Amino acid sequence: MDRYAVFGNPVSHSLSPTIHARFAELMGERLVYEKVLAPVDGFAASVRAFFEAGGRGCNVTLPFKVDAFEFAATRSERATLAGAANFLAARDAGVHADNTDGAGLVTDLESNVGVPVEGARVLMLGAGGAARGVIAPLLARKPARLVIANRTAAKALDLARHFATLGVVEGVALAAIPEARYDLVINATSTSTRGEALELPAHALARDALAYDMAYGPAANAFVARARAAGARACDGLGMLVEQAAESYALWRGARPPTAPVLAELRARAS
Ligand code: ATR
Repeated sequence: MDRYAVFGNPVSHSLSPTIHARFAELMGERLVYEKVLAPVDGFAASVRAFFEAGGRGCNVTLPFKVDAFEFAATRSERATLAGAANFLAARDAGVHADNTDGAGLVTDLESNVGVPVEGARVLMLGAGGAARGVIAPLLARKPARLVIANRTAAKALDLARHFATLGVVEGVALAAIPEARYDLVINATSTSTRGEALELPAHALARDALAYDMAYGPAANAFVARARAAGARACDGLGMLVEQAAESYALWRGARPPTAPVLAELRARAS
């Protein structure tokens, strides 16, 4: 049977094996998808052993997305723009890296949540790895404006410069978010997963906006509750997780699994 896995540290919490097992059932395919806890300083050895033993592909989560990108022999354009990979696949020319996170976010926003990115005024909170991984696919959808706001302004400015040729993008400090209406506010900081406070000017979360936390489950509760209190619609990133998994599955297997039933099952399980 074809073998797949998710590499991370920690990885015990990962929903990816559950998601891929359901995709395989729905597609009538048989495969194995495991969790691999790689040592923090031993990703390359661990993933090399996996591919040498015949592994077909893996997803990669924190803290190894940059290591995965560097490990690969070939890289997609979107992985190169992100400087990070959450996807590796065995190919004839060696291990190929891709990044399906941004596609997962855009598909979740547009197909599941029902918020078109085209023409939207988008505020991205955070300028770390999570933000960087999704900016190019967001800009490819042609938002009217993308403001990247970060606690450390210099990192937001750097990211905006890095992606300047791809669309209308600017970088600012969190405390200096331009007073404007945003249709979509994406929390890509690590505050949710770390349980830390996120200081934001009140105008960042307005009535009628959609507030989206890239974290999922209880980690996203504080941001979601705060956005709702401000009159915004809000959701967590569970749909992004499922959609990036579907994009990965399609790249490995050549056919895209249905995501709606899997997302509904995970939501039902969580409630
Ligand atoms: P990840 O891979 O999850 O993006 P990262 O690359 O370490 O992790 O980036 C974390 C992001 O969350 C950064 O944008 C960080 O802001 P700084 O660049 O100023 O560090 C942001 N972040 C982390 N803790 C934060 C906090 N308490 N308030 C606001 N932003 C925070």
